[in-house]
Amino acid sequence: MKTIIGTLVLATVFAILMTLLVIYTGAFNVATTWKDPAPISWVLETTRENSIETRAASIVAPPTKGDKQIDSGFRSYREMCAMCHTPPGGTDSPITKGMNPPPPDLAKSAEHMSAAELFWATKNGIRMTGMPAWGVTHKDGELWDIIAFVKKLPEMSKADYLALDARLEKGHDHAGGGHGHGDDSHGGNSHGGSSHGDSEPQKNDGHAHKHDDDGHAH
Ligand code: HEC
Repeated sequence: MKTIIGTLVLATVFAILMTLLVIYTGAFNVATTWKDPAPISWVLETTRENSIETRAASIVAPPTKGDKQIDSGFRSYREMCAMCHTPPGGTDSPITKGMNPPPPDLAKSAEHMSAAELFWATKNGIRMTGMPAWGVTHKDGELWDIIAFVKKLPEMSKADYLALDARLEKGHDHAGGGHGHGDDSHGGNSHGGSSHGDSEPQKNDGHAHKHDDDGHAH
């Protein structure tokens, strides 16, 4: 009995020392470019899937609201998600290419995740992956609009996406606030005294940046 306890204590001390060694010597490589070995990928993916599933279990998705909701969700997706989650038929942005884990194709996610799960991940973000928590700056109603759109992605072709892109003006509405700051002509920074909600912490002034003309030359 004594030897068993002695061995356990020794093993614990050894494990703690090894952990401290890794933490303090910088042995762990935090580089984004470092590819996780298969067992670590498995641990991370399984942890994420189960964590989202458990936390989304009590969320009830509200009934969807038709085409207007899809349009609103599309506009938010284009502004807030498309730079990482490449739209149907699109090319990966430098952000997408440089991330690890890579932002998944949401058309695939929408096939195997429920609306509640997609909503939970969108609202709360995914730690240590670069996936932001959109619930910090956006109301649930706006996020459900995005989820309604994301649920349409699996059946959407490149042409369908481009048609929406051409039809709907840039920017996105904030539900409840109701200001359409989608008017390209104002250059994106003026909210026009809009109602962004009572405690809107958004430093980023407006989503209608003129992405098109502020490029940089390579
Ligand atoms: C800065 C890049 C970035 C932006 C912008 C971004 N995401 Fe993500 N997202 C990620 C990454 C990276 C992951 C993968 C996390 C992982 O593998 O654990 C992810 C994962 C997700 C997931 C989980 C998918 C799955 O299959 O598990 C959902 C849902 C999601 N994002 C929705 C959104 C929505 C909706 C938006 C826009 C409102 C958005 N994301 C904007 C980077 C981003």
